[in-house]
Amino acid sequence: MRILSGIQPSGRLHLGNYFGMMRPAIELQEQGEAYYFIANYHALTTVTDAAALRQGTLDVALDFLACGLDPSRTVFYRQSDVPEVTELTWLLSVITPMGLLERSHSFKDKTARGIAASHGLFSYPVLMAADILIVQSDLVPVGRDQKQHVEITRDVAIKFNNQYGEVFRIPKEQIRDEVAVVPGVDGQKMSKSYNNAIDIFGDPKEVKARIMRIVTDSKGVADPKDPDTCNVFALYKLFATPEERDLMAERYRAGGMGYGDAKKALCEKFEAHFGPLRARRAELLNNLDYVEGVLRQGAARARAEAAATLHRARKAVGLE
Ligand code: ADP
Ligand code: TRP
Repeated sequence: MRILSGIQPSGRLHLGNYFGMMRPAIELQEQGEAYYFIANYHALTTVTDAAALRQGTLDVALDFLACGLDPSRTVFYRQSDVPEVTELTWLLSVITPMGLLERSHSFKDKTARGIAASHGLFSYPVLMAADILIVQSDLVPVGRDQKQHVEITRDVAIKFNNQYGEVFRIPKEQIRDEVAVVPGVDGQKMSKSYNNAIDIFGDPKEVKARIMRIVTDSKGVADPKDPDTCNVFALYKLFATPEERDLMAERYRAGGMGYGDAKKALCEKFEAHFGPLRARRAELLNNLDYVEGVLRQGAARARAEAAATLHRARKAVGLE
């Protein structure tokens, strides 16, 4: 089985990115041949500062490696090091119905938030389809907000295969229900654009301050509380074992525990989980040649695969 996912280098990674996409992707490394990449072509739709794009790209590389991406097993690369993907985007563009893109939630959401409605932003799902199809992926681990993009990919691949003969494998998304939407400190979906995110490699003091500011209802210490509607519990359970989760839920329901204590327990979980990863990230930062080597090697492997698919697609449409 071939697994592929990408993440845009357009800001610091937060708990939503980590539990929604990164950790599931890292766990899946064991189960197949994984291809993970830094979607810097995609990020150009929103990041207009060259230095910020370069820095963001390096940050994602460090984050992914620190969190356990194993480059001896997984192909890890920068999207822009596999330029074949942009040529395949064109071959897919000409068969992608406008209506499919017009229905895309992500374009509507982004323009509603004030991002300039460029042609690139509009056709972004076609570039994403090319990422997925060019390495013949079977499974795409992502958060729920990316589901529609994988559906578009499937539609385009099926249409291409029907029109020109079997070139692409038909991929499927994998969404973890338990972490489909990680809430931010205000209870909305955690997102870097809502200023409600807890960054996984944020300054530890800032992280703690953010956790202590998570919005809760106004029940007093003695009152019984409902874990299932609490944002603190929603984040705590992502880190906890099933036993720890059940124990915490019981403490909520019994009363006698304030939200402050629940937040402290969450701070401890955060630190126990990300403290060691932060140390590993600092080591990688001192070893940038190694990181660059990993990305170059990954690009060479991804490119070989991409070139083979592109060749078949070019032949199928009559360019060769
Ligand atoms: P953001 O909303 O902060 O801009 P992105 O859209 O760049 O995040 O998302 C990158 C990846 O992380 C995607 O696979 C997305 O589904 C996942 N993701 C982002 N936010 C969340 C969240 N709050 N809960 C679950 N998954 C998320
Ligand atoms: N669009 C994804 C996001 O914003 C990133 C991405 C680009 C991606 N290409 C991909 C994810 C291919 C999975 C597969 O998060």
